[in-house]
Amino acid sequence: MMKDRIQQLLAEIQTFKAQNKEELEQFRIKYLGKKGVMSELFNEFKTVPGEMRKEIGVMLNDLKNKAQETLNEHKDLFESKPAASQTVNDLTLPVDLGQVGSHHPISLVRKEIIDIFSRLGFNVAEGPEIEDDWHNFSALNFPQEHPARDMQDTFFIEKNPDIALRTHTSSVQVRVMENTQPPIRSIFPGRVYRNEAISARAHCFFHQVEGLYIDKNVSFADLKQTLLYFAKEMFSADTKIRLRPSYFPFTEPSAEMDISCNLCGGEGCGFCKHTGWVEILGCGMVDPAVLENCGIDPKVYSGFAFGMGIERITNLKYQVKDLRMFSENDIRFLKQFRSAF
Ligand code: DAH
Repeated sequence: MMKDRIQQLLAEIQTFKAQNKEELEQFRIKYLGKKGVMSELFNEFKTVPGEMRKEIGVMLNDLKNKAQETLNEHKDLFESKPAASQTVNDLTLPVDLGQVGSHHPISLVRKEIIDIFSRLGFNVAEGPEIEDDWHNFSALNFPQEHPARDMQDTFFIEKNPDIALRTHTSSVQVRVMENTQPPIRSIFPGRVYRNEAISARAHCFFHQVEGLYIDKNVSFADLKQTLLYFAKEMFSADTKIRLRPSYFPFTEPSAEMDISCNLCGGEGCGFCKHTGWVEILGCGMVDPAVLENCGIDPKVYSGFAFGMGIERITNLKYQVKDLRMFSENDIRFLKQFRSAF
């Protein structure tokens, strides 16, 4: 009887398991192939008497669908790309990380500066970017008529001459000294603002790291040795430094520090304008009047301070010619700076 045959085939199909692609192909040929079981049955169907046609027809269609389903289920298993459910469960498969980002060069160099000074026992502090006149200027001994206070250099907030975007991180020195009694051994990284036209060599915002060391008997020799250590660690062990007398209102004596040009090794090249030296920071012994302004007794304590631009150090390390690149977020520029942080 045709009905019995269909039921028997249905059981066969539903319990079918292929071990490999070849067995599956044999299954397909046997049941769904041109000369296979299904087409044989459909041929036979033509001879089925009228009253049974409906029932047998439904059974036949069901059998064909089941055969197709069994085939499809097995296909997923043997396809070279595993089914989605399998991928998720297989923890040994390599992971697609997609696009991995990179650290901004300014972040990388800031981190390196912090690491170097932390090896000398300096900790890190930060202060606000919106400052008052006292912390940015007055406490640091800037005379009232000093040109750095001009509208030209400073961004004031809402025409209020007392509130401005800080022009340097030296303002954090004042805040830390006001709140801490020595010994103080800290660095202060942060963003600063100046009212400058934007060009390859100047920007209206950039980044600095300020350093401050206050204790009993701190001398200029301590300043020099600390900065020599920094230069050698930051650039290379054979880097030399030189200190040139300079002026800052908040240090006395004051100096600017050059390092031997790290491009030509001090021989002289276009980068160092054939002098063999490049300037990297300002420094000096904290002026006793500044200590006093911040509540520290200059008869008991002395100290040194220094300040450097992170962009400047980054330029020297990576030869970035145009300051604007640091803030344009051009991914072709940024992705060149990969590092394990
Ligand atoms: N604040 C100075 C500037 O922005 C840099 C500086 C010079 C900081 C000498 C210091 C220092 O602490 O002692 O140009």
